[in-house]
Amino acid sequence: DDVRLWGGRFADGPAEALAKLSASVHFDWRLAPYDIAGSRAHARVLHTAGLLTADELERMLDGLDRLEKDVAAGTFTGTVADEDVHTALERGLLERLGPDLGGKLRAGRSRNDQVATLFRMYLRDHARIIGGLVTDLQEALVGLAEAHADVAMPGRTHLQHAQPVLFAHHVLAHVQSLSRDAERLRQWDERTAVSPYGSGALAGSSLGLDPEAVAADLGFERGSAGNSIDGTASRDFVAEFAFITAMIGIDLSRIAEEVIIWNTKEFSFVTLHDAFSTGSSIMPQKKNPDIAELARGKSGRLIGNLTGLLATLKALPLAYNRDLQEDKEPVFDSCDQLEVLLPAFTGMMATLTVNRARMEELAPAGFSLATDIAEWLVKQGVPFRVAHEVAGECVKECEARGIELDGLTDEQFAAISPHLTPEVRSVLSVPGALASRSGRGGTAPSAVAVQLGEVKADLAVQ
Ligand code: ARG
Repeated sequence: DDVRLWGGRFADGPAEALAKLSASVHFDWRLAPYDIAGSRAHARVLHTAGLLTADELERMLDGLDRLEKDVAAGTFTGTVADEDVHTALERGLLERLGPDLGGKLRAGRSRNDQVATLFRMYLRDHARIIGGLVTDLQEALVGLAEAHADVAMPGRTHLQHAQPVLFAHHVLAHVQSLSRDAERLRQWDERTAVSPYGSGALAGSSLGLDPEAVAADLGFERGSAGNSIDGTASRDFVAEFAFITAMIGIDLSRIAEEVIIWNTKEFSFVTLHDAFSTGSSIMPQKKNPDIAELARGKSGRLIGNLTGLLATLKALPLAYNRDLQEDKEPVFDSCDQLEVLLPAFTGMMATLTVNRARMEELAPAGFSLATDIAEWLVKQGVPFRVAHEVAGECVKECEARGIELDGLTDEQFAAISPHLTPEVRSVLSVPGALASRSGRGGTAPSAVAVQLGEVKADLAVQ
């Protein structure tokens, strides 16, 4: 039996090689529940337009309900002979309702406006799922920050010791970037709340159907597409979604890279929980940070999904082109990857142990209080240019003697500069350096407490 939706003008069926190339049902089947929801909404506007009687509508909706149950139960599935999910589900409806009624549903719609609509619905649902998983990770990170609110660590630039910071401050920096990702998902969702259903193949419909009613029925808060060509041909919503998921991957990879480094013998800043680490098949002693490494690796894959999609879209003429069938697998994959990665990543972050003693031992190392000397001198009226030079001299002296800044004697300080009176020692402590950076966004315990409060308030409404 020929299931094609377009056989009429063809003398021959498709070559097997074409059918194999053309088929998308193995990856677009996940749109089936959305396709059926779209069909219900479409049946209703066909009825409103006088193209289905009340009785026909009722039987149509009943057929769709039965089809939906069979799809959910797995007793009806698409086959290789079905070109795509839309074809498969029309076959399912015809099997349940017979050709006379089943064959009426396709009036006034095209797979072009269907797929553009269903794809939006699918991605909107997954934007919420992924957003929720990002929130879970943020909550785990906030928990980690709160549990170590007074732990100092070496803050780094260029991966070199820079200035001491609070561990909580560092962790909250990651929470901030994840907040922007979550916000991007919400703003994307708002922008994507426009339904292309009713655009037809590209030009709209002559049948007097109401696209706004379909849009409302399917939960598109911003109504139906204002331009049927754009409705069927635009995929910037997909590209933007792929960007946001890639950005989440990149943000995870930056945390991951730090966890991997922190978990080394040399750093020994953190220890991963056994349940969130893996072993080696040959080296019995090994305990590896595989979750973090998979996050780092998968971020590359998420970037690839974005760039591949952008390349597909580049220079495509209006309106629909079959190239657009290539738009789904990359972002379906991005959803799948993040939906398995995020829960594991959150578990890893929620259960790791922080080695406070090690972090605090290294917090002042590498002359990380040199800026404090310079800023102390500025407060004594020394121009910063000179202060910077003088603090640099202190570092040079320490390097030559193999000591840290607080190891310099009063005489050695005075020999470097008469401005360096013994009072300079007041800023040569990590707690002093932290507490002095008390402005908004700074690393002082008081400022980090304010930040923590703001982040938690944001999370409560996110
Ligand atoms: N399966 C197609 C896609 O994913 C939709 C079908 C449109 N096909 C067509 N020949 N107009 O984009």
